[in-house]
Amino acid sequence: MKNYLISCIVFFHLLIVSVRSDVLNDSCSQAAKGDPNINFDFCVSSLQVDPKAKSATSVADLVDVAIDTAMSNATSIGSIISKLLSNKSLEQYARTCLEDCSELYSDAGSNLKSGEQAFEGKDYGTANSEISAAMDAADTCEEQFKEKEGVVSPLTKENGDFFQLTAISLAFINMVQKR
Ligand SMILES: *[C@@H]1O[C@H](CO)[C@@H](O)[C@H](O)[C@H]1NC(C)=O
Ligand SMILES: *[C@@H]1O[C@H](CO)[C@@H](O)[C@H](O)[C@H]1NC(C)=O
Ligand SMILES: *[C@@H]1O[C@H](CO)[C@@H](O)[C@H](O)[C@H]1NC(C)=O
Repeated sequence: MKNYLISCIVFFHLLIVSVRSDVLNDSCSQAAKGDPNINFDFCVSSLQVDPKAKSATSVADLVDVAIDTAMSNATSIGSIISKLLSNKSLEQYARTCLEDCSELYSDAGSNLKSGEQAFEGKDYGTANSEISAAMDAADTCEEQFKEKEGVVSPLTKENGDFFQLTAISLAFINMVQKR
C-alpha cells in the first residue's frame, strides 16, 4: 500500500512536470509557426532559463517571462553600449549612433515595463503598443549604422536577439487574447 502510494505520487509528479514543460514547447512552437521572425530553439532556450517558465501552467505565465527576459536584455545591451562608447578612438558617426541606441534601449526598457503592467491589467491594446514601441528600438538602432558607408553595426546580434524577444512577447499576448 505504501509503495503503491509512493508510486502514485511519483507518477503524478512526473505527469505534472511534463505537462508544465510542454507549455513552453507548445507556446514557442505556435509562436514560431505564426511569425517567421521567431525561431523555436531560440524561444525555448532563452525562456527556459527563467524558473518561472518551468512552473508556467499557461501561455499567460510565459508572457511575463518573455517580457522580463526582454527587459534584462535591454539592460545588458545598455551596458554593452556604454562599454563601446568608452572607446576613445571611436569614429564620430559611430559614436552618435551608439548614443542614440543607448537612449532607444533605455526607452525600450520603460516601454516593456508599461507593457507588462498593462498586460497584468488585461489592457491588451496598450500592452501591444508598448511592446511594439520597444521592438522598434532594435530596428531603429540597427538601421542607423547602415546609413553611412564603411560603418558596421557592432550590435547586430544584440538587436536581433532583442527584436526576437519582443516578437515572442507579442505572439504570446496574441495567444492569450485568442483564448
Ligand atoms: C520540447 O521540444 C524539444 C524539441 O522538439 C524536445 O526535444 C523536448 O523533448 C520537448 N519537451 C517536452 C517536455 O515536450
Ligand atoms: C539577450 O537574450 C538572449 C536570449 O536569452 C541571450 O542569448 C543574449 O545573450 C542576451 N543578450 C544580452 C546582451 O544579454
Ligand atoms: C575602438 O574603435 C576603433 C575605431 O572604430 C577600433 O578600430 C578599435 O578596435 C576599437 N577598440 C576597442 C577596444 O574596441
